[in-house]
Amino acid sequence: MTQQNPAQQEGTWDSLAAWYDATNGKTSDIIARQAMGIMGVTPGQKVLDVAAGPGYFSILAAQAGADVLATDFSQGMLEYLRDKARRLGIKGLRVEFMNGQDLKLEDDSFDIAYSCLGIMLFPDRAAGMREFCRVLKPGGMGAIAAFTGPEGHGVQRLVMGALNKVMPDFEPAGVDPRFSLTDPDVFRDEMLAAGFSRVNMFTVRAVRPFESPEALWSQAGDAPATTAIFNALTEGQRQAMGDAFVEQLRSEQGDGPYGAEMEFRIAVGVK
Ligand SMILES: C[S@@+](CC[C@H](N)C(=O)[O-])C[C@H]1O[C@@H](n2cnc3c(N)ncnc32)[C@H](O)[C@@H]1O
Repeated sequence: MTQQNPAQQEGTWDSLAAWYDATNGKTSDIIARQAMGIMGVTPGQKVLDVAAGPGYFSILAAQAGADVLATDFSQGMLEYLRDKARRLGIKGLRVEFMNGQDLKLEDDSFDIAYSCLGIMLFPDRAAGMREFCRVLKPGGMGAIAAFTGPEGHGVQRLVMGALNKVMPDFEPAGVDPRFSLTDPDVFRDEMLAAGFSRVNMFTVRAVRPFESPEALWSQAGDAPATTAIFNALTEGQRQAMGDAFVEQLRSEQGDGPYGAEMEFRIAVGVK
């Protein structure tokens, strides 16, 4: 069996909810708003969010009057979402621990399902997609969001640029699961194989703002998918890579304001 990336392991995300919300929350909220617009969530609809994390779509759908179930396999993320919903006075949102590859839910029970930057991480993605489709009612709609590729991921582009500069021969071990659904044809075929009858693709571009090149560098090291790269380096190599990262950003964006361009694809299918 291939070694799982930390981003795929239960427990990894438990201590990362506040970090994730602060660093990636703005872009995930933009994706969720786009998906809301495409699928048109209405009051009373049953909505499922798989690998919900801090629950951007869940909160918007509940605010639109839907009956929402947010699921994730990180207790830390679920606690964070429960707190957030309580603080915002959100009604109509339940939060439950569940592995997206094995949903403890009835067939044909939801009008809308959503998963953003979650299913792409699953070691058994086919099972995740099958489960995602199985629980939708016939005619129900499902949206899955994923990265379009490393070149469309502003932070990854800078991390790999700095790594290549400092250690041109370094080959990261294993496959980065964040980029498992970058080919739109593969993405569509996997959704059709899971039981969707038609699928359309939409590209979303958003900017991830950050305070300074140094701040983005310190966030980059915390991303679970890149832990393996950072752990393989010596302290000196990490330092040199950080310097190259900051220098590259300063040469591109000067004294700011700063932002990393991020590109995502939302695949929307009908069961
Ligand atoms: C990159 S975050 C995405 C969070 C959120 N959906 C968003 O829109 O930004 C990935 C989330 O997927 C969850 N996750 C990863 N693998 C999972 C699995 N097999 N089952 C359920 N949740 C999973 C993690 O716990 C984490 O909350």
